[in-house]
Amino acid sequence: MTATAFWLAGRQATGETAFDVTSPWDGRLVGRVSVPTEAQVEEAVAAAHAVTDEFAATPAHVRATALDHVSKRLAERTEEIAQLISAENGKPIKWARGEVGRAVSVFRFAAEEARRFNGGEAQRLDTDAGGTGRLGLTRRFPKGVVLGIAPFNFPLNLCAHKVAPAIAVGAPIILKPAPATPLSGLILGELLAETDLPAGSWSVLPVTNDRMPALVKDERLPVISFTGSDKVGYAIQESVPHKHCTLELGGNAAAVVLGDWSSEEDLDWAATRIATFSNYQGGQSCISVQRVIADASVYDRLVAKVVEAVEKQGTGDPSDDATDVGPLVSEDAAKRVEAWVDEAVGAGAKLLTGGKRDGATYAPTVLENLPGDTTLACEEVFGPVLTLHKVNGEAEAFATVNDSKFGLQAGVFTHDIQTAFRAHRALEVGGVIIGDVPSYRADQMPYGGAKQSGVGREGVRYAMDDYTYERVLVLTGLAL
Ligand code: SIN
Repeated sequence: MTATAFWLAGRQATGETAFDVTSPWDGRLVGRVSVPTEAQVEEAVAAAHAVTDEFAATPAHVRATALDHVSKRLAERTEEIAQLISAENGKPIKWARGEVGRAVSVFRFAAEEARRFNGGEAQRLDTDAGGTGRLGLTRRFPKGVVLGIAPFNFPLNLCAHKVAPAIAVGAPIILKPAPATPLSGLILGELLAETDLPAGSWSVLPVTNDRMPALVKDERLPVISFTGSDKVGYAIQESVPHKHCTLELGGNAAAVVLGDWSSEEDLDWAATRIATFSNYQGGQSCISVQRVIADASVYDRLVAKVVEAVEKQGTGDPSDDATDVGPLVSEDAAKRVEAWVDEAVGAGAKLLTGGKRDGATYAPTVLENLPGDTTLACEEVFGPVLTLHKVNGEAEAFATVNDSKFGLQAGVFTHDIQTAFRAHRALEVGGVIIGDVPSYRADQMPYGGAKQSGVGREGVRYAMDDYTYERVLVLTGLAL
């Protein structure tokens, strides 16, 4: 099989080596990807650095047109790209189609934001005698080249979240897709190559992980946007404390079901959403439901419904439209999940359903009575595993959500608007979703964590803020 070329400063190139991309479902070869040499990486970095000023000065309409083009082309190629995501990642095809749809929106939002970003804010400075006749004009400017490091779990859309905001603000970007799923990121290169963006303003480099520390430390790349594990994210930040790092890390997201969410219809909705979003993409999302924290007054009824709904989640071939849960990204990943569940059961947790592995597929699993010192209780499982916790009242529910080193998003099932506001104040997370699971993400809203779930925010405009800084221009001698 011919190796897929990578994108070096806007043009296609091949290196001297290549690696295989295989399907986690059946091990078949999905593609081969060419790996850039050291000299080619240097060329991409030098080109990005050289084009920084030119790109920052590119008119908004040029950047917006390019972003609109990518959005349109993603929409046109949805089915083909969804098949590719599903093949390289093992994601069920219905979720892969949804991912392409989200990337279409991300590029469209970025085009819209590029048109309205940075209109500038005028501030009168003559509020004190020393400022008479003076006006401050504040605009935002790119911090420099962005190094975007993307994960495997949303191989297209989380690349889009790195690339689109960078182009929107005129910051060159070097994108490094995940080694398990590089083909979706390389497709973005194909679409960007159809635009008039300046050469050097973007590259997609499938560099192997062992070569990343050198790239991370390169002083010509002052902004790092990383999505992945907390271990790797903090290692990056510690290695370059003077750089601007956005870290989107893990979570063990909780869905809280309070006592007022108690009708049959309420509990059916909560159970269906919990079952779906603890298992979508095999639970490989930082905001998939890992913990359900339910009030004692609804706990037993909810548990019965959750178990029933989880048992309806169909595992199987990800290319089948009917499949809800495909394989994890690798058999090793499924073995790790198996080991964590086995440890929890050995420590006294009660297995209500699931708990079985078949190759890279792990059965949708529900546990209760989880001892607090188990790995499953303390870490992000990143698999189709749900733990149930019974509490008494809102205060205990919120304290249980916060009893975690992570804080990405939380869902609270309540009808009470006062409770919603109290949840918003009390929960130590980046997003609180009322009446739904924590897994809800609209790509335009701020997305990121508190505590060890990371620093900084994505969500198109928020990433644009993150990639830029305010610079004030003081005008003097004015007749204000
Ligand atoms: C993530 O896993 O952090 C991304 C979740 C999403 O974009 O829905």
